[in-house]
Amino acid sequence: MAEPKPYGEAGGSARAFDLGGYLKSRGAIVERALAGVVAESDGAATRLLEAMRYSLLAGGKRLRPILALAACEAVGGALDAALPYACAMEMIHTYSLIHDDLPCMDDDDLRRGRPTNHKVYGEALATLAGDGLLTDAFKVLARGGAQAASPAVLLETIAELAEAAGSAGMVGGQAIDLLGEGRALGLAELEVMHRRKTGALFVAAVCGGARLGGANPAQLAALREYARALGLAFQVIDDVLDVEASTEAIGKRTNKDGARGKSTYPALMGVERARELAHNLIAQATDALREFDNRAEPLRALAAYAVERKL
Ligand code: IPE
Ligand code: IPE
Ligand code: MG
Ligand code: MG
Ligand code: MG
Repeated sequence: MAEPKPYGEAGGSARAFDLGGYLKSRGAIVERALAGVVAESDGAATRLLEAMRYSLLAGGKRLRPILALAACEAVGGALDAALPYACAMEMIHTYSLIHDDLPCMDDDDLRRGRPTNHKVYGEALATLAGDGLLTDAFKVLARGGAQAASPAVLLETIAELAEAAGSAGMVGGQAIDLLGEGRALGLAELEVMHRRKTGALFVAAVCGGARLGGANPAQLAALREYARALGLAFQVIDDVLDVEASTEAIGKRTNKDGARGKSTYPALMGVERARELAHNLIAQATDALREFDNRAEPLRALAAYAVERKL
């Protein structure tokens, strides 16, 4: 892969950061890599692979893989070191969306501006497409990551990703979300739910990318703090967009959370205070990066984007 210019160098002079350009260039790297991780056909389960590719290559902001690359760059790592990991992150995220949309979960018919996976392929194949993306994500990471990282670093990265995606993280958060429908959760419970269903993958994206980029323990601790605040803020804004955005703008149905009796930040404290909370969290996230030089500019800009985004 031709290595794109890293943003800034240690000790380099400050200049306005072009987030649009960064999202475009790192997004293109991610799209190219993702196009290669699921085969088009294996001669037998071709329809399954088609279902997996349908959702994986349907666009999306690619924020988690871009965060993984940005975290790798922030500690001076080469993009190639984190690219398999970035792909694995997006595969797991996409699987979580396919399952989240199933009739037995949020029962949605629109995702990333197109019909949801089960609307096109049926519930059985959509379930399997999710299973396939989840499991293959670990294959992509274990095989691809081995070229760039030591066995110990790779093993820790795999363990952390499994923990973040599994019952202690995203899957556990989804269970709290679904079992909590129709019941008003308190603020503490709501925070735990959001940190797990969404925050955990953000922490894994940032910490995994940084670890593969050669981060030291102090850098990892600071980046974990950054990602914890960012991940919670991201889901708070997702809740806000559900009540404020249009379906055309965000490519998924809106006003669904209230209709399904979900607990959300806007429901609990109103949209304005929810936005305020998200902004405070982003200030915390940015503050956690205070010891980093301008190679962390992408991470700083991505944090601001997470609350200012319109989709
Ligand atoms: C949607 O995530 C689901 C949440 C965890 C809030 P994104 O808003 O990142 O969705 P895509 O990947 O851009 O479609
Ligand atoms: C999704 O939360 C969290 C996941 C782990 C997929 P939501 O249910 O709010 O996500 P959207 O709004 O459907 O994208
Ligand atoms: Mg949901
Ligand atoms: Mg949903
Ligand atoms: Mg939502």
